[in-house]
Amino acid sequence: MSHHPTGTPSDDEHGSSVSRRTFLGYLIGAMSSFLGVVAGVPILGYLAGPLRSQAEANWVALGKVDDLAQQGPQVVQFTLSRRDGWVEVREARTCWVMPQGGDRFTVFNGRCTHLGCAYSWHTQGSYADQFFCPCHDGIYDRDGRVTGGPPPRPLDQLETKIENGILLVLYQDFRPGVPQKEPL
Ligand code: FES
Repeated sequence: MSHHPTGTPSDDEHGSSVSRRTFLGYLIGAMSSFLGVVAGVPILGYLAGPLRSQAEANWVALGKVDDLAQQGPQVVQFTLSRRDGWVEVREARTCWVMPQGGDRFTVFNGRCTHLGCAYSWHTQGSYADQFFCPCHDGIYDRDGRVTGGPPPRPLDQLETKIENGILLVLYQDFRPGVPQKEPL
């Protein structure tokens, strides 16, 4: 009696393992390019207050004005928490802080306006002095204007204020992939 092996992957299973590998490849590529660029940039972590709904903007402390003013473009990471029914969801977010001299700053939401990927500031190479998004090669200048790739609008600039020597940003997310700046 012959023995028939079982467990041979079906076409579907084979297809999904290929797409998983492709996805992992993209992910690793995007992460290594991101890490390669921002290594050495100080990343500050802050826990922001609760975000009660997705649409609600939150004032978030980004750091001391004196410290931020002494450096170039910096990415600041923080965590927002919001209630989703009975569950408290914590979400990581980032902003890019662009010192403009003295106590003036421009702050951009850290998500690319194309599909929401993380972009980063480049100090050297082909994208020197520009923001580059590795997902689909989106490029922005230091003022957030699109200079290449598919992003449909400039980077989302956020409102800021200074209190007791601390830079705060009114953090909000906006709908990706559309030309107008629409709060989520
Ligand atoms: S998500 Fe940034 S270019 Fe597509």
